Amino acid sequence: MNNFEYQNPIKILFGENQIENLSKEIPKDAKVLLLYGGGSIKQNGIYEQVTTALKEYKVIEFGGIPANPEYAILINALKMIKELEITYLLAVGGGSVIDGTKFLSAAALYKGDTPWDILTNNIRTTKGLPFGTVLTLPATGSEMNSGAVITRDETKEKLAMGGPGLFPQFSILDPTVIQSIPKRQLANGITDAFTHVLEQYMTYPIGALLQDRIAESILQTLIEVAPKVINDPKDYKAAANFMWSCTMALNGLIQKGVPTDWAVHAMGHELTALFGIDHARTLAVIAPSHYRYNFNAKKEKLAQYAERIWNVTEGTTEEKANAAIEKTEMFFHALDIHTKLSDYTANYEGTAQEISRRFTERGWNGLGEHKKLTPNDVEKIVTLAY
Ligand code: NZQ
Ligand code: ZN
Repeated sequence: MNNFEYQNPIKILFGENQIENLSKEIPKDAKVLLLYGGGSIKQNGIYEQVTTALKEYKVIEFGGIPANPEYAILINALKMIKELEITYLLAVGGGSVIDGTKFLSAAALYKGDTPWDILTNNIRTTKGLPFGTVLTLPATGSEMNSGAVITRDETKEKLAMGGPGLFPQFSILDPTVIQSIPKRQLANGITDAFTHVLEQYMTYPIGALLQDRIAESILQTLIEVAPKVINDPKDYKAAANFMWSCTMALNGLIQKGVPTDWAVHAMGHELTALFGIDHARTLAVIAPSHYRYNFNAKKEKLAQYAERIWNVTEGTTEEKANAAIEKTEMFFHALDIHTKLSDYTANYEGTAQEISRRFTERGWNGLGEHKKLTPNDVEKIVTLAY
């Protein structure tokens, strides 16, 4: 096992009716900016629960943060924060609203001229404007980590940012919020969380027995609850297990002491930037090709995953590893998630070259757990995913 440091300061309030406790977490004298997305919270009762809990506060609202939070829209919120001297941000939404809020937390205290530089120059935020979250969509884990991904339509870019100043102060996780989520977004959430675990697990063995088993238990739980969540989002037991699995998949715990990959996300983000494909679906497109292309480097963990998750006990390491990739594709297909780029766009020709060109331009020469994948490898992986 590798050496590691682990600190996660986020207070989690988990369970039904926890939104009522919002006022215990936000300072009484705060001037709050309530941030939300396209308006689902106004239809499902979450907005009402939040505003009721905050009735003693000065609250200003900023709605309209789109899926894949858009820089140009966030800049309008940033102006409000500065003009109205907002002291506290409250994100009520899924990964997009929470990530947008993290960007605003960083940008509000950023001294440079152009906040986009935080993303292009990889500026780590050590201090941000304080914020909390009310999660409405289990998927990204953003509610319990310090990372964010921001999109800029003007340049067709989607870039990551983060830093120890960007942990939410608290996150409220009420599993009943999933009752209003459309099936497509539930399937996305399962797929995203599942792939988060794979990014931190599907590398090479390093003797981290506990991390492996925690990772495997998250995968098993997601597989077990997936059909229940999709068919009956009112099933509280399934919803609670789904929600906590998504959070645990990306709160930093399972990546400690082990090699991590994240190349699937790096390539997937480009597919969202270029074609607007849902984040989770881009991962389902890239992951199988990535595992096939890097088969030799990953076959031992693929075989372990085949045995422990999919009960593939017969055959050689290679046979089990191949079965693992097929089982993963079948799992995505059962969620109605397609795994080829051509299933999403007819204009896929040239995509691999474009992504490879972008990675070259950014100097991304060493992706993956061995930090060896070059833009040339990326071109081949994306081509396999057509
Ligand atoms: O905008 P509203 O009206 O809220 O509707 C949203 C949106 O249309 C809807 N929704 C959310 N909660 C709902 C609901 N509809 C009904 N009932 C509810 N309770 O769902 C749609 C998608 O929401 P979004 O926030 O975009 O989804 P998700 O949570 O999957 O977030 C995706 C974003 O997170 C980034 C992705 O790249 C993408 O931009 N990620 C962030 C990560 C992080 N910070 O750690 C890691 C991930 O790998 C990912 O990259
Ligand atoms: Zn993801």
